[in-house]
Amino acid sequence: AFKIAVMASGSGSNFQKLAEAARDGRIPAAIELLVCDKPSAKVVERAESLGIDTFAFNPKDYPSREAYEQEILNKLLELGIDLIVMAGYMRLITPVLVEPYYGKLINIHPSLLPSFPGLHAARQALAAGVKVTGVTVHYVDGGMDTGPIIAQRAVEVLGDDTEDTLYARIQAEEHVLLPDTVRLIAEGKVLLEDRKVTIHNS
Ligand code: GAR
Repeated sequence: AFKIAVMASGSGSNFQKLAEAARDGRIPAAIELLVCDKPSAKVVERAESLGIDTFAFNPKDYPSREAYEQEILNKLLELGIDLIVMAGYMRLITPVLVEPYYGKLINIHPSLLPSFPGLHAARQALAAGVKVTGVTVHYVDGGMDTGPIIAQRAVEVLGDDTEDTLYARIQAEEHVLLPDTVRLIAEGKVLLEDRKVTIHNS
């Protein structure tokens, strides 16, 4: 079976949607592991109720970021993980993880990249006055929210939006786009060549 690990730091609503899609057979894959850098995050509770194993340790308890990631990498290799999904993992990762998993490591971000990388993407979109923002799923190359784009969905910005109302509509799109994109990858329909992605969805 196609094996997935999810990395997350926060609430884990995207993790939950992904886990449900796998459990219900909408994605031909199994979520084998949650990796979390904040042991008290809500996503850890979600993993427990879903019966998904968790690697939840604070990177500060390791001598370096690299040492922390090496331990994660060992775990991923031991489990034979085919795809890592970063779903709200709020820290940059190093070549320790990026190099062995390049092309098998994706991230979701709440904007139409390359606009508004980093934190508070919905707030950035409102401040910029754009009329359309959205959601991006992309391969991770070690930069902050950079790397070859796999899929995007647009979300309209409304005249009376606040950060909360806009972000709620963005998240609703994320909850559909992430499982859809992971399904295409698990079905082998996503091809990455020369930093360019093509989808073969026959
Ligand atoms: C998601 O909106 C994801 O796009 C964002 O964190 C949120 C996590 O929500 N990621 C980034 O901003 C990465 N730069 P969740 O914990 O409810 O899934």
